Amino acid sequence: MTVVNTAANAESVTYNYKVVRQFAIMTVVWGIVGMGVGVWIAAQLAWPALNFDLPWTSFGRLRPLHTNAVIFAFGGSALFAASYYVVQRTCQARLISDTLAAFTFWGWQLVIVAAAITLPMGLTSSKEYAELEWPIDVLIAIVWVVYGIVFFGTIVKRRVEHIYVANWFFGAFIVTVAVLHIVNSAALPVSMTKSYSAYAGAVDAMVQWWYGHNAVGFFLTAGFLGMMYYFVPKQAERPVYSYRLSIVHFWALISIYIWAGPHHLHYTALPDWAQSLGMVMSLILLAPSWGGMINGIMTLSGAWDKLKDDPILRFLVVSLSFYGMSTFEGPMMAIKTVNALSHYTDWTIGHVHSGALGWVAMISIGSLYHLIPKLYGKEQMFSIPLINLHFWMSTIGTVLYIASMWVNGIMQGLMWRAYNQDGTLTYSFVESVVASHAGYVVRLLGGGIFFAGMLVMAYNVWMTTRRHIPEGDRTAEAIAAVQGGLS
Ligand code: HEM
Ligand code: HEM
Repeated sequence: MTVVNTAANAESVTYNYKVVRQFAIMTVVWGIVGMGVGVWIAAQLAWPALNFDLPWTSFGRLRPLHTNAVIFAFGGSALFAASYYVVQRTCQARLISDTLAAFTFWGWQLVIVAAAITLPMGLTSSKEYAELEWPIDVLIAIVWVVYGIVFFGTIVKRRVEHIYVANWFFGAFIVTVAVLHIVNSAALPVSMTKSYSAYAGAVDAMVQWWYGHNAVGFFLTAGFLGMMYYFVPKQAERPVYSYRLSIVHFWALISIYIWAGPHHLHYTALPDWAQSLGMVMSLILLAPSWGGMINGIMTLSGAWDKLKDDPILRFLVVSLSFYGMSTFEGPMMAIKTVNALSHYTDWTIGHVHSGALGWVAMISIGSLYHLIPKLYGKEQMFSIPLINLHFWMSTIGTVLYIASMWVNGIMQGLMWRAYNQDGTLTYSFVESVVASHAGYVVRLLGGGIFFAGMLVMAYNVWMTTRRHIPEGDRTAEAIAAVQGGLS
């Protein structure tokens, strides 16, 4: 990593770690809540009686609660924490405003609580990953703009000339998510709880999936690559493998992602050329995605032995492997003939979670294990063996989840397209549901193990934060700032 700094320089900066701590802790809390709901809906798919015949606890209402909680509450809090920490450390500057930073924390938590109340009530715009109704959308937009001001304001007042590559990824994530959210949420409100999309028909679908795919590209990918570019070199104590590659794949990634949305709308009313464009751009996207994966993994060159006894590094490296896997699978699924089999099946769900659990959750968990002791002025986490246990639970949980969904997905796709000689369908839909049951139970097991790992993490974090602080360490903030003064 490029370092333009001196120890004296570092000591004179006190960073705002309070907001980082708040977001870091809430990442764990929302992770447990969001994944807990995930486990519940996974159980509902295996045993529908768990819907309890109540509207508030039905699958249709809890599913968006799960997706919003894991993506925006868990993933979002992790991104806020990481970006606020990284931008301060790599710019050698305190956040531009503590008040505005605190506003983003409380504002974001308010959005999450509002989502947790309104979604089970059935209040939804019905756009996937953008379900929240317009008053909450307005709040999101305000919080996000303030986030942009805090982040870019800090970049402007930086005390080092160079803008480290992680900040480029965070910056692209912040700007693009603002644009996506504002454009896709444009709607005509008819009451406080109901609005209609500003777009109609195929245009509405195209705007929605331009948003949806780029939520993957910029929320679930660019932001987490920013995390990767700081925490992997830090934990490995090695410089980034190729700084040049990081710049090249950054520009390639952001300019190609934006075109790939139509692969969500294959064989629909969308013009054929648009579908083909989405397919081709998705195939090209493999290259910049793997640029990031290779750069992250190769950062370990010469330090592979560290994997033997550093479970945090294992989290980070395995997350990159899942990132590589899901960004290989994604372009394959974008090929129209492959999509004809995979679309609507559990294969998509498997793909989603190899990215979501394997990449997003594991890179966040690894980064938090690196971060939390620093934020609380401790040398390391309370228990390294518990991190190791968590690593294995996450890996095994993810593998069980995605493998069962691959089996289910391909089976469903093949059953749905099987014809008899007289042209009638070989299987009824219900037969494919019955055949999927075993896969749903295995997925529940995998998800349950992953979720239990989060509880182990919560215990480890709790014990780390409450450990006795020696006398001289009273101001953890100042100590942590000096201890880790050099980026
Ligand atoms: C314990 C862990 C988890 C479990 C058990 C779980 C379970 C589920 C289930 C059962 C569904 C519904 C599938 C369907 O409709 O057929 C789902 C959907 C989804 N989950 Fe999770 N999940 C977990 C973690 C996560 C995480 C960490 C993320 C993101 C960071 C995530 C993102 C999503 C998304 C985006 C969908 C919607 C997929 C689609 O519409 O294609 N999940 N999850
Ligand atoms: C090169 C990268 C990628 C490409 C080209 C890609 C492509 C695709 C394709 C073709 C689908 C299926 C669309 C359908 O049949 O409806 C899909 C679904 C999805 N992918 Fe990816 N994917 C990529 C990476 C990722 C990553 C890294 C994640 C998560 C971190 C992710 C999350 C999702 C989600 C959430 C969906 C489900 C959307 C929905 O229908 O609700 N993708 N992706």
